[in-house]
Amino acid sequence: MNIVWKRTICAVLALLISLGSVCVPAYADAASDEAAEEFAVRDGIGAGVAVIVGCGVQRVCDSLIPGMEKSTGAAAAVFEELTLDIGAEEPFVFIHASDTHICRAGPGDEYRMMKMSASRRRIFPYCMQVLEDVAKKAEELQCFVVHTGDMIDFVSEENLAQAQRFTDRVDCIMAAGNHEFTKTLSEKDETPENKNAYLEQVQRSFRNDIRFYARQVNGVNLVALDNSYYQIEPWQLEKLKEEVERGLPVILFLHVPLYTPEEYDYAVAAFGLPAWLMNVPEKKMEGYGEDAILHQGADESTKEAYDYIVSAPNVMAIFCGHMHYNHLSMVTPQLPQYVTDCTTGRIVTVR
Ligand SMILES: [Fe+2]
Repeated sequence: MNIVWKRTICAVLALLISLGSVCVPAYADAASDEAAEEFAVRDGIGAGVAVIVGCGVQRVCDSLIPGMEKSTGAAAAVFEELTLDIGAEEPFVFIHASDTHICRAGPGDEYRMMKMSASRRRIFPYCMQVLEDVAKKAEELQCFVVHTGDMIDFVSEENLAQAQRFTDRVDCIMAAGNHEFTKTLSEKDETPENKNAYLEQVQRSFRNDIRFYARQVNGVNLVALDNSYYQIEPWQLEKLKEEVERGLPVILFLHVPLYTPEEYDYAVAAFGLPAWLMNVPEKKMEGYGEDAILHQGADESTKEAYDYIVSAPNVMAIFCGHMHYNHLSMVTPQLPQYVTDCTTGRIVTVR
């Protein structure tokens, strides 16, 4: 290959890579870059390179697992279809989305949030487009959406306004994620006190109670539960039991996936420890840091809820997010758990 060809190929590659960062705001500074990297690690996203796949769709990929693609940077929602045969009286459709991470700040927000927004938009540059695509698809299919948390990246007035625009437009069942209750993006900010402090403000952008909600559709009970801090509280467990004991087929929506050996191995292979799953057995938490054990270790009601969910014969499927990858694992031989990433819309037909 002669030097002219080499230079041409390099120029084309540089152009393609630069396309992946066209949405980076001009005011992102070096400090923000460092923060973005730090948050990226915490949110399980490799530094990545922009590539072009399919019909010009850009994704940010990394190679922690060869062949695995975490599509946090897709320039548009990618829709996948799934059918659940669980005994609905009449078939119905919904779209499962998760972890959109709207990361905006506006004139009503503090300056530090503008900086945070600049950093985070490098990681989630297409969040608004993905949400727009999901809304359009829901309108086209005349169906509702279930969002399993982290619709917003941090509590800013602008993020909440954008979330409300979405929930005003489409019928959206929401289960809270950990990012619904953070103003600093630090895990140290994830305390029950802060959750309670921000809950009223955040709740206003959503139609249903984002900590617990149930809706019956065509003889199927859809139950959305906030387990965003890796715990299920006693009052949530009681309400869950009430819903399950109605005897209808149940689909459960959570932010944090339940521990399964396969999910654990997959998560650790992708991101290392900790595994960011609910009810990880103590012996599997060896190697976790002290803070992670304190934050993620299951309390008694969480352990009880886990045992209850896996033994309830009418809990038919679980949908969740938090991991920023697409994955299916079996919690029991009868109970599939679908983890959905930031840019996938799962079009679920329930029969
Ligand atoms: Fe997330």
